[in-house]
Amino acid sequence: LESYFIAGTDTDVGKTFVTAGLALAIRKLGIDVGIMKPFAAGTRQKNGFKSEDVQILADAAQINDSEDLLNPQFFPIDASPFTASKNLNLGVDVNLVLTNFRKLTTMHEMMLVEGMGGIMTPILKNYFVTNLIKDMKLDVILITRTRIGTVNHTIMTCAMCKHFGISLRGIIINNIDDGYSEKTLQSDFNDLLDVPTLCTIPKIANRDLVTLSEYIEKKIDLKKLLF
Ligand SMILES: Nc1ncnc2c1ncn2[C@@H]1O[C@H](COP(=O)(O)OP(=O)(O)OP(=O)(O)O)[C@@H](O)[C@H]1O
Ligand SMILES: [Mg+2]
Repeated sequence: LESYFIAGTDTDVGKTFVTAGLALAIRKLGIDVGIMKPFAAGTRQKNGFKSEDVQILADAAQINDSEDLLNPQFFPIDASPFTASKNLNLGVDVNLVLTNFRKLTTMHEMMLVEGMGGIMTPILKNYFVTNLIKDMKLDVILITRTRIGTVNHTIMTCAMCKHFGISLRGIIINNIDDGYSEKTLQSDFNDLLDVPTLCTIPKIANRDLVTLSEYIEKKIDLKKLLF
């Protein structure tokens, strides 16, 4: 089964929400899907996993792997791994991330790995999310939003993937902003990119994951993506 790195054109585009929906939809196919958020940052949660993203993903995938495996490094400030580690005087351990990733791939039939920010988010000097994707040997599903500016971000992301030799399997448009209509954006992406748009996701009331997963099941040929 194929595993994927879920990247975004930016922070806050819906990587966690869409990845959780994908995980739940894949679960419903009877597939044991593992999740990982290699580096997480932000406000530390009081209950459960430190990172809210990790909590959401683990709940959706219905797994109870240890936090150390799912999220090897957590930085309690909102910043890239590079910036956070520098400001907190902590090391960044890419090898630990890769070791844990390999461990998780033996424990599950497939993996969904959520990125941090965009694909050029720095992890170390001269080591970006793109480098991590290469080291994990994963194909990418790209989440984009609909606000004006997204075409620029999406083209840049696709260009950097090409530059790094990363295979982009598809784009998911997260229709969460005023800006481009779904139709306009899909047609622009078709004209400008050589990456297919897998589907557009509407704003989901109450961020309900079951509704999202049902939507994904209807719109995306998951079997084609996974097998
Ligand atoms: N289609 C949607 N419908 C409703 N709410 C959404 C949708 N997509 C995202 N959201 C909400 O928008 C917020 C940002 O989404 P999310 O946390 O998934 O972004 P992200 O790309 O994972 O951000 P980060 O870079 O911090 O990991 C969340 O509160 C999420 O629940
Ligand atoms: Mg997230």
